[in-house]
Amino acid sequence: MLASQAHMWNHTFNYINSMSLKCAIQLGIPDIIHSHGQAMTLSNLVAALPINNNAKTLDYIFRLMRFLIHAGFLSQTQVNDKEEEGYLLTPASRLLLKDEPLCQIPFVQMELEPHFMDPWHSLSQWIKNGNDSSTPFAICHVKPLFEYDEKKPKINRQFNEIMASDSRLIMSVVIEHCKAVFEGLKSLVDVGGCPGIVAKIIANALPEIDCIVFDLPHVIEGCEGSKNLSYVEGDMFKSIPSIDEILLKWVLHDWGDEGCIKILKECKEAIPSKEKGGKVIIIDMVLTDHKLQKGDDKSYETQLFFDMLMMVHVSGKERNQQDWAKLFSGAGFGDYNIIPVLGLRSIIEVFPLSVEFAKLNKTPVK
Ligand SMILES: C[S@@+](CC[C@H](N)C(=O)[O-])C[C@H]1O[C@@H](n2cnc3c(N)ncnc32)[C@H](O)[C@@H]1O
Repeated sequence: MLASQAHMWNHTFNYINSMSLKCAIQLGIPDIIHSHGQAMTLSNLVAALPINNNAKTLDYIFRLMRFLIHAGFLSQTQVNDKEEEGYLLTPASRLLLKDEPLCQIPFVQMELEPHFMDPWHSLSQWIKNGNDSSTPFAICHVKPLFEYDEKKPKINRQFNEIMASDSRLIMSVVIEHCKAVFEGLKSLVDVGGCPGIVAKIIANALPEIDCIVFDLPHVIEGCEGSKNLSYVEGDMFKSIPSIDEILLKWVLHDWGDEGCIKILKECKEAIPSKEKGGKVIIIDMVLTDHKLQKGDDKSYETQLFFDMLMMVHVSGKERNQQDWAKLFSGAGFGDYNIIPVLGLRSIIEVFPLSVEFAKLNKTPVK
């Protein structure tokens, strides 16, 4: 019973993980330790922080730092000849440095803003209502997320910053380890691709490919193309520009199965046959219960966090391999190939039916 109570306490207080992380970013702790250039003692840290330096704040920062060490965002080491301990950054807090090219601060900041947290208080009400066409976000803010951010420039900007910071990080891995998925192509459209960082990275790394960023008009507004990069506005549920290859990064998890099948059908219309190089590349999660595979069950928990997040914010979901296979056959595609090389996410290559197969008018391969 006591262990169960402790388990329940741990889950009740899970938000303390996120709020402490937010506080550390707001105080600029990672940058201050980084600028110090070596392990930083508590007294040096408190002196450098934009706070009153007194016994109380020393105690507050000591406790915050102890928590962040436990959470894996900091480590501690003996400082040179002194008896004192000093704080050091870890790989996780290096992603929270403002000037780090792969900085992930926008993600933490936006996901922990009150307007993104508030919908969680409407989750049970939304489930009770059983309303399929709405979301807890829409109940809380009267509009669905993609219409809400249209009217709020700050949120639109924050959203683009999240997408840009994630794109820089993930594409650095894709270009280094999986460039082959784009090789041999003449043209590619990144559907729902704003703010265009993914397409820019591909256009720079593979200058022979003509890249198009395709997104809603209010999102595209003001975006400027370059030599082999252009922006096209439109609605992916209605029509997608004809092209060799389509990229859908972090788009399908925003939508339910019906919406995904509609988008995939539009993709199928836009690309040539498999023999002529037609292909859709998806970057999204494939839910994998790592516990069952005796692996890292924290990864599975994080995937499930995303699944819940998609339900609360946008009517979307994360999918396992069987779920993906159903979408692909539902949209009339042939085979697919999952490349699990992006941490919690995977690259999924999806191919149209071969011409011969389509002629025989058989049901697609599962
Ligand atoms: C989660 S974001 C992903 C952005 C980008 N692919 C990335 O991963 O950095 C989803 C994108 O889909 C776009 N989107 C939503 N509805 C759309 C529609 N009907 N047609 C085209 N794009 C749409 C949004 O504007 C947004 O840019």
